[in-house]
Amino acid sequence: MTLPRTLTEKLARHIEQAGPISVAEYMNTALGDPEFGYYMSREPFGRDGDFTTAPEISQMFGELVGLWAAQVWLNMESPENVSLVELGPGRGTLMADIMRTLAKAVPALHDAADIHLVEMSPQLRQEQKKVLKNKTTRPPTWHDGIDTLPDTPMIIIANEFFDALPVHQYVKSGSGWHERLVGLGADGASGGPAAFGFCLAETPIPYPQVLPQDINARIEVETIAETRPEANTLMQDLGNKLGVHNGAALIIDYGHARSGFGDTFQAVKNHIPQHVLFNTGEADLTAHVDFAALITAAVSAGLETSPVVTQKAFLKALGIKTRAEKLMENASAAQSSDIKSAFDRLTGPQQMGSLFKVLSVYTSGLAVPPGFEPEHENL
Ligand SMILES: C[S@@+](CC[C@H](N)C(=O)[O-])C[C@H]1O[C@@H](n2cnc3c(N)ncnc32)[C@H](O)[C@@H]1O
Repeated sequence: MTLPRTLTEKLARHIEQAGPISVAEYMNTALGDPEFGYYMSREPFGRDGDFTTAPEISQMFGELVGLWAAQVWLNMESPENVSLVELGPGRGTLMADIMRTLAKAVPALHDAADIHLVEMSPQLRQEQKKVLKNKTTRPPTWHDGIDTLPDTPMIIIANEFFDALPVHQYVKSGSGWHERLVGLGADGASGGPAAFGFCLAETPIPYPQVLPQDINARIEVETIAETRPEANTLMQDLGNKLGVHNGAALIIDYGHARSGFGDTFQAVKNHIPQHVLFNTGEADLTAHVDFAALITAAVSAGLETSPVVTQKAFLKALGIKTRAEKLMENASAAQSSDIKSAFDRLTGPQQMGSLFKVLSVYTSGLAVPPGFEPEHENL
């Protein structure tokens, strides 16, 4: 048999042999297949890529996250053996802006911090290495997952990381809840030449959501529920690490503060939404983050949690308005207009300001990290 030339071919052969796969396995393979996975062979960021993340919009984002990390470090009583960890660092822009800010504002943390990057993509690791050259006191260490992170006090940053972790989907039918699977054959609903289509597992499963059982009776047939066990496990593992050594994690992502129902699985290519089963391995796949589920996992691992706030409220509390004004002082008219438009993109309610949410989880007994004061909710 010839070797498959695309992920669609490879996955189709697998499904032919093994039968339909879960949405989680489809997502995992599309993003992380070692040969053809979306993140494994490309750099998808920016205007010429598929999507733009907050640190790629403006240096202000990384600068404020850097100051956040500095305050957390002070709250931790400034340990010298501290690890600064990023989950899914993309191009490395966020960590580069954090380190530039710390070098100026809190050099003691800049020099003390050992940098650890959890990144699955070999290509992005190379890019991160280039971008962070000469920005860190000692060379960063890369990890496949969080289990190899060192046993030290830790400050962890995750921007648009959890949304890339696989979700399972379940559909309510007359006979109960069934897992949604990906099989062969065009999906009738997609109206296009997809190699794959959705189907349902035959055997019903118990009610999959964390929401109270009594809601189940009122849920309409065809409703979709999503779960993300990998994110919950990761959060629990982080909890075990932060429980032993002081530390805090900052999670920024698009999603909802309360658990709910609905299909949030989505694909984007060249900044345009796509059907999730098209262009497998060539489009970014994400699903909204259920922050309430993350909080449940963190609390069960003994951590304290901040409230969930909008990105707008968080950046405002950290002083984005003052920072934008400061940058504009020495800017040309064109640069000022760019700063204003970046400010609007990061904080505007119709842009990233409301859809993106921010949560911190931290060792019990530490002070609440900055950025979560309720009075800053209105920008
Ligand atoms: C949407 S990008 C976010 C990049 C960056 N944080 C930013 O804000 O620009 C997702 C990042 O997470 C990485 N990633 C996704 N799933 C991962 C996994 N399971 N393990 C490790 N890295 C992963 C990707 O390779 C990429 O670097």
